[in-house]
Amino acid sequence: MTTSVLPNITELKPGFGARIDGVDLAGADDATLQAVVAAFHQHGAILLRDQPMKPQDLLRFISAFGEPEDHTLQENTLPGFPKIYVLSNRIVDGKPIGAHNDGIGWHTDYSYRAEPVMSTMLYAVEVPPEGSDTLLADGCAAWNALPPERQAQLDGLELHHSWRHFMNTREFNRQEEPSEALLAENPDVLHPLVRRHPSDGRKALWASTGTVKEVVGMPNPEGLALVDELVEFMTQEAFVYRHKWRAGDVLMWDNRCTLHTGTLYDDQKYVREMHRLWVKGDRPY
Ligand code: SIN
Repeated sequence: MTTSVLPNITELKPGFGARIDGVDLAGADDATLQAVVAAFHQHGAILLRDQPMKPQDLLRFISAFGEPEDHTLQENTLPGFPKIYVLSNRIVDGKPIGAHNDGIGWHTDYSYRAEPVMSTMLYAVEVPPEGSDTLLADGCAAWNALPPERQAQLDGLELHHSWRHFMNTREFNRQEEPSEALLAENPDVLHPLVRRHPSDGRKALWASTGTVKEVVGMPNPEGLALVDELVEFMTQEAFVYRHKWRAGDVLMWDNRCTLHTGTLYDDQKYVREMHRLWVKGDRPY
């Protein structure tokens, strides 16, 4: 299936991402959904606006890309929909309906798993009129911009990712020691710093923050300083798409070649509610 059946595609920024207009995702036939999937694999991220999507529509849409992934913390999922994770500051009957400030800091989702999620989709239910942008950094463009001698130094390095480390040290959310059961389900893993895309072998810088404890074979603080340096390099404006949300937006990105971060907003003044879905991925190489 080619993307040519899609009526209208424009890049989100030169060489990265695609905005797709003229498609109603909830009512789309299978051929149209497959064309949207093809656009996603080609461009690294897709945006579709003005989409009225019920939870069932979100599940049908995400299933066109692969098998939806579960979430580590089930208490933040939409009641009756364990694959839909709620990001929100909304309180109902004294209880938060979702996780607040969950994705602040440059990262790639589920990096603490042996098989991190292939993609992340966010659906905007309600968004503040200012703040709360989501930023996507293009790891392939960043890799391609490095001089060959620097690429040679970095290629082959491995990062030690740890969910426990993340939960113990995270900055914008409650720090906690996970239960033994959850720790057993989420043991530490090693992943490459430079990741190949399985579709065409293109390489991406894949440094991430939060879950990274060390660069294998490089003592700290030098190891983490290298990670910080590379994340800073990859997230400079030239490689970043900044998404300003509108209710009804569907934004989906390929975690195999990007980093992303949420941004803060005035959570005393505004409500934000997003539905997040993941697609299962493969072991990075
Ligand atoms: C995430 O990191 O998964 C969410 C980002 C956001 O809330 O903008």
